[in-house]
Amino acid sequence: MIDIAVVAGDGIGPEVVAEAVKVLKIAAARYGFGLGLHDIELGADRYLRTGELLPDSTLRELRGYDAILFGAVGDPRVKPGILEKDILLKLRFELDLYINLRPAKLYPGAPCPLVGKGPADVDMAIVRENTEGLYVGQGSFERRGEKDEIALQLSRNTRFGVERCVRYAFEYARKNHRQRVTFCGKTNVLNFAHDLWMRVFEAVRAEYAGIEANYAHVDALCMFLVKNPENYDVIVTDNMFGDIVSDLAAIIQGGLGVAAGANLNPAGVSMFEPIHGSAPPFKGQGVVNPIAAINAGRMLLDHLGQTEAAAAIDRAVARTIARDLKGLDVHKMGCSTGAAGDLIAGYVRGE
Ligand code: IPM
Ligand code: MN
Repeated sequence: MIDIAVVAGDGIGPEVVAEAVKVLKIAAARYGFGLGLHDIELGADRYLRTGELLPDSTLRELRGYDAILFGAVGDPRVKPGILEKDILLKLRFELDLYINLRPAKLYPGAPCPLVGKGPADVDMAIVRENTEGLYVGQGSFERRGEKDEIALQLSRNTRFGVERCVRYAFEYARKNHRQRVTFCGKTNVLNFAHDLWMRVFEAVRAEYAGIEANYAHVDALCMFLVKNPENYDVIVTDNMFGDIVSDLAAIIQGGLGVAAGANLNPAGVSMFEPIHGSAPPFKGQGVVNPIAAINAGRMLLDHLGQTEAAAAIDRAVARTIARDLKGLDVHKMGCSTGAAGDLIAGYVRGE
C-alpha cells in the first residue's frame, strides 16, 4: 500500500495533478498495488482564508506519508515570494529534501528547439543541491532605502551538505549506468563556496573510478548545453545554479510541459513536482500539458519501488507524444489537459 499526500496547490496545480492522479490510479489497478490518496490543502486559498502557510501540524502530517505529489504554488492575490518561500522552500528545508533531481530527456517526436539534435542527444539529469546555498535566505541590508545602501545575500555551503549531494550524483550515475558526472560551478569567482565544492568533488570522484568526472563553469555550461547537449549525462551543482540550469535543460527536452523533478530525502518522505509553476493566466481552462505532473507521479512510483508501473507510464507518455499530441506547449497539444491525461491513462491500462 502506497499512501500519498496530494498537494494540488494554486493556479493550474489542481488540473494537472488531477491527471497525474488519474494515471496513478490506473497504474495501481494494472500493476496491483494499493494507493491511498490524501488531499492536503496548501496555497493561496488556505492562506487567504486562515492566514496559514505551512503550519507544523501539516508538516507533521506530511511526514507520515510515503511520498508527496505537489502541483504548484503562486497566486496573483498574494505578494510574490510568500507562498514560494513559506510553502515550497519551507517544505524542501523542513523535510530535508536535499536532492532536487531533474532529469531532462527528449522524447521521440517532441519538438526540440536545438537544430539538428534529437532524442539521442538530450538525455541528462541535473542533481541540484536543494537545502543550502543562496536559498537559505540569510543576509542583511545596511542603510535600507538610502543612496549608499548595501544588501548582502549569503550562500551557505556545508561540507556535509555538499558531500551528500555530490555523492548522490555519483551513486545516481552508477545505478543508472551513466558515463559522466559534471560539476557545474564558478570556481574562478566563488572562491569560498565553490572552492569547498571542488575539493569535495575531487575527493568523492576518487571513490568512483569507473565514472568519468569533469568540471564546467556555469556560464560555459549554458552555452555547451545548447551546442552539445550530448556531452552531458549527470550534472551536479548548487541550489542557485541548479535552478537556472534546470530550466535550460527543461526547454531543450521539450519545455516545461513535460519537465518534472524529485525533491528527495532518501531517508525520509520525498516530494515530486512538475517544474513549471502555477501559471495563473491558464488556470481552469484545460489548455496546459499535464505530462510534467504525470512524470512527477512516474518518478514518485519509481522512487517507491514500483518500477514496472513507472516504466509503463514512461512508455505511455512517449507513445502519447509520438502519436497523439500536436505539440507540448500551452494551447499546442491539439487536445485538452483532461484528454491528454486520458490518452496516457489509456495506454497504461491497455498494456
Ligand atoms: C523551482 C522554482 C523555485 C526555486 C521557486 C518557485 C522558489 O523556480 O522549483 O525551480 O527557485 O527553486
Ligand atoms: Mn526554477
